[in-house]
Amino acid sequence: GFLAARGVPAPVPPVVRPRRGRTTSAMRGLVAQTRLAPAQLAAPVFVREGISSPVPVEAMPGVVQHTLDSLRREATACAEAGIGAIVLFGVPQKRDAVGSGAWDGEGILNRGVAAVRAEVGDALVVCTDTCLDEFTSHGHCGILREHGPRAGEVDNDATLALYQAMAVAQAEAGAHMVSPSGMMDGQVAAIRAALDATGHEDVAILAYSAKYASAYYGPFREAVRSTLRGDRLTYQQDPANRREGLREALLDVAEGADIVMVKPAGPYLDVVAEVAAASPVPVAAYQVSGEYAMVEAAAARGWIERERVVMESVLGIVRAGASTVLTYWAREIAEGIGSRP
Ligand code: PBG
Repeated sequence: GFLAARGVPAPVPPVVRPRRGRTTSAMRGLVAQTRLAPAQLAAPVFVREGISSPVPVEAMPGVVQHTLDSLRREATACAEAGIGAIVLFGVPQKRDAVGSGAWDGEGILNRGVAAVRAEVGDALVVCTDTCLDEFTSHGHCGILREHGPRAGEVDNDATLALYQAMAVAQAEAGAHMVSPSGMMDGQVAAIRAALDATGHEDVAILAYSAKYASAYYGPFREAVRSTLRGDRLTYQQDPANRREGLREALLDVAEGADIVMVKPAGPYLDVVAEVAAASPVPVAAYQVSGEYAMVEAAAARGWIERERVVMESVLGIVRAGASTVLTYWAREIAEGIGSRP
């Protein structure tokens, strides 16, 4: 033969055969190192003021802005699917310079929290986004300096008090957990102190610790009707920086975070892995709107197998070290897992 003519000996049969662990579905299941469970998934949901029926988000097929009524139904469905948490974002009708709708007990987000909590009780962890960008007229995550050479900049320390008010209002509305996502320095400590001072010691903090200034948030900005012009480069992290992700997470742990989060997830799995290796508290990752939209868009064209890519994308995030995943597919995945024989 071809090889013998050239003096190549027959290959030595391998003694070590990793393929033995892949022979059957049962064998693969037996040895799988990572598994998805509904309980570790969290569903981000949007509730919008002043609409009478749910409004589809164009760039996120399958995702809607909810009315208070459809929000209640969605929360019930999430609880029945057995997922762990629902994370609420509010889309108010009116916005102002300081985002006062954020701590108004009658504001849309707080009404949504109360409605969901009344509906599901403790069956889900009811979690809120704790950030001003949906409530400010300029769309930034904090308030802006009005005077002086730094006018127009996001004022870190003045924003902290507003986050405190927002978190306390959310706790009063019934949130089990608040989640500061604005990337202000000191936000976790400020919120922890405010919650403790108002008798909400049991309300947990999911900290958006390593949150990058990402183009993957594009579809979300449609979902919350963001008014932002410009960017968030002075407060969200530079995508070039890995070490800083760990630093931010450890700072939030020191400030009292109960869970630290990396966001986005898929393009930042190195950061997820690094934080997971070093964090003494549970690690979450947020599979964001752009990650969702890309898969849905490619699947709609028949370019990828939708369900397999959905599962693989979330599995990869868990394999990297996240024990909790925020994903717009949370309920669908949970229902799929639950219905398997
Ligand atoms: C800000 C916030 C954003 C997202 C979650 N919280 C947008 C931003 O930082 O601009 C993005 C989530 C997503 O893209 O799915 N409060």
